Amino acid sequence: MYKKNSIPSTIFSYYDDESPESIEFRRMFSKVRNLNPDQAMKKFIISSSTVGEGKSTTASYLAITISKYRQTSTLLIDFDLRKPKIHQIFGMDPNNGLTDILERAKPAKTCFKETPIPNLKVLTSGKLHQSPSELFNSNRINDFFKEICFYFDTIIIDSAPVIPVSDSLLLSPETDGMFFVVRAGKTPRDVARRARDLMNDAGVNILGVIINDVEGVLPYYYNHDYYGYRYYGNERNSGK
Ligand SMILES: Nc1ncnc2c1ncn2[C@@H]1O[C@H](COP(=O)(O)OP(=O)(O)OP(=O)(O)O)[C@@H](O)[C@H]1O
Ligand SMILES: [Mg+2]
Repeated sequence: MYKKNSIPSTIFSYYDDESPESIEFRRMFSKVRNLNPDQAMKKFIISSSTVGEGKSTTASYLAITISKYRQTSTLLIDFDLRKPKIHQIFGMDPNNGLTDILERAKPAKTCFKETPIPNLKVLTSGKLHQSPSELFNSNRINDFFKEICFYFDTIIIDSAPVIPVSDSLLLSPETDGMFFVVRAGKTPRDVARRARDLMNDAGVNILGVIINDVEGVLPYYYNHDYYGYRYYGNERNSGK
């Protein structure tokens, strides 16, 4: 997605419409959105086995891609109330966000934050809460989802990892399904298996696995550059 060791100010400094990630995300989204013939899926939760696998980065990139694709009105929510990160990725103030809505301190409508993309709004974590689990058990979550579904076509939810805490397993029944992030070359197989077992026990609807940070890990035929897609316009001069 961007070069390691660079310090991007916000995600908009490295987001690229024609990157392999954007292309794959558009493909994946159009495939899953209409899996249910009765009603298009709209609420997607992003999780992973453990910490630092790229959930927040993936959720942000996916939300931008979807909001630009077919002009879909999209909301990205930071539901990782223990390690909120979306506000940093977008360069926003975390306050006036999710916890404030769930505690009924603020109406949802007043907390959606604008981004440079007209179709994309962000709901940051809100002020830190002493015990996030209380908020997860609350039936306010149900009311909250009913309300936001009224305003948005697609909702992308960044969440906590599955193994250390149960937050995303508790949240998943409120959503249409989960995208599970695995960091290529980093997530041990046994750890991913343990997460899969926990998700299966909790009845999570796993819609797909997103392999993050594949560069240098997968064989050449997974690389978009190999097919010349990224440089399609210059291909005649590129010698490919
Ligand atoms: N594809 C990638 N290439 C380079 N760096 C990446 C990539 N994906 C994520 N990172 C970096 O790895 C770190 C962890 O990413 P991120 O915060 O998205 O993971 P996370 O799974 O949400 O972590 P946490 O469990 O702490 O919430 C960040 O510094 C992020 O910038
Ligand atoms: Mg995160």
